[in-house]
Amino acid sequence: MSTNLPIAFVADERLLDDLLRLAAAAGCDLERVPDATAARRRWPTAPLVLLDATGVAECVGESFPRRDSVVVVVPDPEPQELWKLAMEVGAEHLITLPGAEPWLVSALADAAEGPPSNAGKVLAVLGARGGAGASVFATAVSLTALGKGDNSLLVDCDPRGGGIDVLLGDEHADGLRWPDMHISAGRVAASALHMALPTRRKGNARLALLSGAREGEGPPPDAVAAVVEAGRRTGEVVVCDIPRELGMAAWAAIDRSDLAVIVVPADVRSCVTGKQLALELRARGVHARVVVRGPSPGGLRPQDVQDAVGLPILTAMDAERRLDKSLDLGVFAPRAKGPLTAAARETLVALAARPPKTHPYQGAARAA
Ligand SMILES: Nc1ncnc2c1ncn2[C@@H]1O[C@H](COP(=O)(O)OP(=O)(O)O)[C@@H](O)[C@H]1O
Ligand SMILES: [Mg+2]
Repeated sequence: MSTNLPIAFVADERLLDDLLRLAAAAGCDLERVPDATAARRRWPTAPLVLLDATGVAECVGESFPRRDSVVVVVPDPEPQELWKLAMEVGAEHLITLPGAEPWLVSALADAAEGPPSNAGKVLAVLGARGGAGASVFATAVSLTALGKGDNSLLVDCDPRGGGIDVLLGDEHADGLRWPDMHISAGRVAASALHMALPTRRKGNARLALLSGAREGEGPPPDAVAAVVEAGRRTGEVVVCDIPRELGMAAWAAIDRSDLAVIVVPADVRSCVTGKQLALELRARGVHARVVVRGPSPGGLRPQDVQDAVGLPILTAMDAERRLDKSLDLGVFAPRAKGPLTAAARETLVALAARPPKTHPYQGAARAA
């Protein structure tokens, strides 16, 4: 546990109860400082400072130095003229509860996680048709990232796919699946996610798996968005397995992707449906590429697939040998020198080369 906790310098006991509840929701501890002396000690290093009307007045009286991440928080409606004190103490935000609860949960979770990073990248893997090989490819990319020593988060966005954990042979692994996930406030702390999910490890790297289940609901779009952004913030390779049917949850992932790949089997019908999908992605402003999956029954070359789908090829791969057997035995691991791993590597390189996205999270608070 971090010893450098966010602090609350708050006299209002009911407000403090609210803050402690919100901190718990954010998966973080909150240190109450009882007086200005204690506040002064923690002022330079606390990742987040929460003040109520009394706290802010005391800090102004003590002429605390300016610092970032000071938030004045009061029950609605805010006392008159409070904004003046908030400005004097250099607060970044003046928020009222309960309206700004989601914002505050987010700010607390950020403080618990340390400085946010946009180093993570999000890949959406789609198939040109059912059975194209999207789930297999998404899994191969996550496993290849793990093999390289990168942290990865594999997100199953298919409500009827039977659970991507089955593909990995991890269906009995401990940890939560989508129906168990209850994400409120549009935000989940990455630390909480990692504690909850089935995880594979290799050295210091980990692959966390958020799978569907055999029954129950598919993921709601807000939850998909929250999970994807949690992975991005903590610098992971987030791989989203997108179902053939593009519902709101699928779009929540696709819209957040840095790169989308369409796995297109090298046959004419897949090219036709791949083209439809490519047009949908283009209309949405998604950066998309094709991964051609051979062999081609009619002799289509990768270039033919590219021309037919109307999207540049990222890579083309031959069939992975003995795949079905390994899938059935629950021991799926793409061969290190096989076509899946090579295509996954190329995809990871292309993903890493994408420019970082700015964090789309928008707070509900207003600046003081
Ligand atoms: N790279 C591959 N090489 C050989 N066969 C594959 C490959 N990818 C998928 N398959 C075959 O296609 C089937 C469906 O793959 P899957 O990834 O579940 O498709 P999707 O998710 O696009 O519906 C697999 O069970 C396997 O038989
Ligand atoms: Mg699938």
